[in-house]
Amino acid sequence: MKKAVSLLFVLAFVFSCVAGVAEVSTYTATYRGYTSDITVDVDFGFNAISDVRVVSEKETNGIGSYAIDALPKRILAEQTCYVDMVSGATATSAAIRAGVADCLRQAGADMSVFGRNSEDPAPIDAAYNCDVVVIGAGAAGLTAAYEALCGGASVIVVEKMDIPGGNTVRSSGAWNVAAHPDQLAIHATNDNLVPNRTTVEDFVEYTMTGGHDINDIELVTYMVENSAPITDWMRSLGFNCEFSGNASSTSVPGVARGLITGMKDRVVEKGGMILLSSKAESILTNDEGAACGIKGTTSTSGALMVNAKAVVVATGGFGRNLEMVYELKPEYEGFISNNQVGATGDGIIMAQAIGADVVDMEQIQAHPTVHQASANMLTEGCRGAGGILLNTSGKRFIDECTYRDIVANAILEQDQQYAYLLINQAIVDSNVNIAGYIDVGILKGPFETIEDVAEFMNADTASVRETFDAWNGYVANENDPEFNSSFTWIRDLSEGPWYCAQVAPGIHHTMGGLKINTSTEVIATTGEAIPGLFAAGEVTGGVHGGNRVGGNAILDCLVFGKTAGDSSAVYALNHAVE
Ligand code: FUM
Repeated sequence: MKKAVSLLFVLAFVFSCVAGVAEVSTYTATYRGYTSDITVDVDFGFNAISDVRVVSEKETNGIGSYAIDALPKRILAEQTCYVDMVSGATATSAAIRAGVADCLRQAGADMSVFGRNSEDPAPIDAAYNCDVVVIGAGAAGLTAAYEALCGGASVIVVEKMDIPGGNTVRSSGAWNVAAHPDQLAIHATNDNLVPNRTTVEDFVEYTMTGGHDINDIELVTYMVENSAPITDWMRSLGFNCEFSGNASSTSVPGVARGLITGMKDRVVEKGGMILLSSKAESILTNDEGAACGIKGTTSTSGALMVNAKAVVVATGGFGRNLEMVYELKPEYEGFISNNQVGATGDGIIMAQAIGADVVDMEQIQAHPTVHQASANMLTEGCRGAGGILLNTSGKRFIDECTYRDIVANAILEQDQQYAYLLINQAIVDSNVNIAGYIDVGILKGPFETIEDVAEFMNADTASVRETFDAWNGYVANENDPEFNSSFTWIRDLSEGPWYCAQVAPGIHHTMGGLKINTSTEVIATTGEAIPGLFAAGEVTGGVHGGNRVGGNAILDCLVFGKTAGDSSAVYALNHAVE
């Protein structure tokens, strides 16, 4: 079919030249992408698209950047603007397609040809052999892959989405650390820091309390004990993991997207293969019941087979599988999810099919501050940096910095079941993620006066003013007599301009999943480890109990991802495929 299309365009080109039809001209159009306006230039003439360039954009590196790279090439190759979008980067893809369509209309192109839907490629089957196959190219999967490569194993990663990253590319990118020397040095010279999370014991307790004490304490202790070493390991790989020096100096901030692109590059440099748009559908087992590969579908919808000596499941949670969420937790019926579209729980289902046990499946977390129309989360860093939550009467109603399940429930108890998050310019400037919320239009402002804020909220101005003044007084006294805020009093909100977002809870994390031990072996319903099967990250259960605390997701992925890489490589190199 591709040959026929090419021939058609060669003939059209020759005909156009002979007939002296339109020379090549450049057309320009601008459409809104996800975080920015995207301007495309299209060269069109002699009845053909001869070039497509994205000439200006500020889309997200590691998400939109995949569409910026892929779409122009696809459009050029297929000679239509309506090529397949990049899954996970659909807003960016749609803007590029719309821009190119606009240019083609300006050029007077025949849209029945240049605006047709692209053809599906012919299915091509593929089969591979390796030591370790990793299912999922998120933080846990890529970390496992890299570490398995370091252990001497050959590794293939299969990822069903068109882009790597899983939920990590949507995260604010910090992970909690306990007892790292740099962190202790910062705490030694600064009183206004979260005091109770710098020792392993305190941080284990914080995680257990946050998880309603149903977490597996062995897994929690292992994760926390490895939090400082994993930070040093990441640094040794060249990642910039500095402690922020502010109230969240228990976290290493701002590296989530860089983490994915960086880890992907390191996997490829080390000789690993990453198959994108390639879906694992079942885990293969041998006569002894050991995992020995996967079967699935290639990027061209052909049959995919990867024979391996060990399998690492790192497919993430099921927060975007709303049917599964509502069934397991009926009180969340109707909630939206802020998860990426691929978070559908496939790994849990595949592993259960070969006997894996699961834990805590009904433990599902709603993040309190999700912008409902766009399903974007506004990080709890907004509140950690001094933001407050107001109800529609302009009143505070909770300690904004307590555990997220408590905050989410408090919002649901308000009359309208939503709240307004109020922050100021200093908070926007303190965190690159927060500044991004203005670009995507979920954080409104700048508002020059508190009266403007009240008008945006449709709330009584005097009430908002009263709450605002009271809060600034509490910060001055470092004491909140109303809700006993656990804020670290680093700034008040007195200086404008101000920004505001309407928020309500949305599905954020699924704490339940495959049962593992600290070696990341997957445990069967019989209580025995399933030979050759390992799992890490949100696909597993037990680490976070009934409520995951902020900053523990990436830590979980890194610590258990690295362990899964080690364990699977050791297993694979000591076991022949039957
Ligand atoms: O609110 C947040 O920044 C979420 C962080 C997390 O899920 O760990």
